[in-house]
Amino acid sequence: MEQYVIKGGNPLVGEVSIAGAKNAALGILAAAVMTDEEVVIENVPNVRDTRVLLQAIQGIGARVKYIDEHTVRICGGTINPHADNCVDGEYVRRIRASYYLLGALLGKYRRSTVALPGGCNIGSRPIDLHIKGFRALGADVDIHSSMIHAEAQQLVGSHIYMDVVSVGATINVMMAAVLAQGKTTIENAAKEPHIVDVANFLNSMGANIKGAGTDVIRIRGVEKLKGTEYSIIPDQIEAGTFMAAAAATKGDITIRNVIPKHLEAISSKLKEIGAIVIEYDDAVRVVSNQRLRSTNIKTLPYPGFPTDMQPQMAVVLALCEGTSIITESIFENRFKYVDELFCMGGKIKVEGNTAIIDGIEKFTGGNVVAPDLRAGAALVIAGLAADGFTVVEDIKYIQRGYEAFDEKLRALGGKIATVETDKEIQKFKLKVG
Ligand code: EPZ
Repeated sequence: MEQYVIKGGNPLVGEVSIAGAKNAALGILAAAVMTDEEVVIENVPNVRDTRVLLQAIQGIGARVKYIDEHTVRICGGTINPHADNCVDGEYVRRIRASYYLLGALLGKYRRSTVALPGGCNIGSRPIDLHIKGFRALGADVDIHSSMIHAEAQQLVGSHIYMDVVSVGATINVMMAAVLAQGKTTIENAAKEPHIVDVANFLNSMGANIKGAGTDVIRIRGVEKLKGTEYSIIPDQIEAGTFMAAAAATKGDITIRNVIPKHLEAISSKLKEIGAIVIEYDDAVRVVSNQRLRSTNIKTLPYPGFPTDMQPQMAVVLALCEGTSIITESIFENRFKYVDELFCMGGKIKVEGNTAIIDGIEKFTGGNVVAPDLRAGAALVIAGLAADGFTVVEDIKYIQRGYEAFDEKLRALGGKIATVETDKEIQKFKLKVG
């Protein structure tokens, strides 16, 4: 199994360019099958999640062709409308977001069958709001033999109130509604940048969606969607991860190809603890040349502090002067990395959905296991800031959402390599000294 081996202690200095947003790409790639015409999507991040979703899209009969590493052409016209187009468990187990094909195929063919996504390492991840939305549009949705089947004679616009702000449910229901008859209103909708990107993509195909990015999205159903060319927005969480890495390693990183507005909650917290954050049109620079101060963070739906940045900021706060408190209000089990940081000298106590963080001067290197995507990235940051060597196992989680993560960190002066054997770890240790 691949692992990262890291020699900590080097401030990360230099420039890094951010890839396309994974969580926008997953909705957009699924929505691409809603037209029979060709769709070209640029700035697709080359990560495991997008590769697996494209395999699932191919698996239901769409034509998929990589034009280059970050550009893909999709044609949904080759999908057999009369087949059951079942997206089976092999894909859904590997990537939950395959369930976006439920909304896309229901919207286009008025029937769809997708394997039921499981929970994952950060919580139970229910999909009751997705189902509530599909039923409100007139679909019969039932679950049997671990599959979700949705079918409708006709999809008719409706008024849907989301009990909880849900990114996935907002995107899935938006897709199911764009070809429905009449008007759909989604109240208490998620407002993340990736929701806006999926809505903009659908509108570029001829959909009629207004209000994406606010908590009320209004959709007027159209007859059909057409082909388009579209470029995905930069990934706010990848950018935030490198911002946190600059702060934790007392570095100086210019993060290029970002939309600074999407990073406001992260920039504001970094400034609050004493980091220097300079914003440019499409870049941010984070400098940390002194010990940072503690603060408190509560994760919230956008534009609040993103839950996907919670582990990375916990690592930064673990090195700050004083005691910080993080409250995780989105997921019920997103502090698994705390036990791993304990092995590196971290002083964090978890009580329910709150982490109490007593700052330390330095982590010491250790052997840790990535519990999930963002926690894995946080452990890499801890290793880069630590004294000594760190080995991070189960990096497959990290590779789901970060493109060329170790390569980008090496280009910033990070001493990190991807290895598979103890022999390679020894070789790395001899090489970096
Ligand atoms: C998306 O997950 C992201 N994944 C997650 O990023 C992100 O953490 C999350 O949104 C919150 O921003 C993708 O976009 C592929 P939710 P999603 O539905 O859509 C509850 C990463 O690191 N809920 O917004 O599954 C749910 O339990 C990943 O890239 C229901 O109760 O999240 C949670 O408490 C990790 N019923 C809250 O809503 C539902 O039907 C927010 O979840 C759906 C959700």
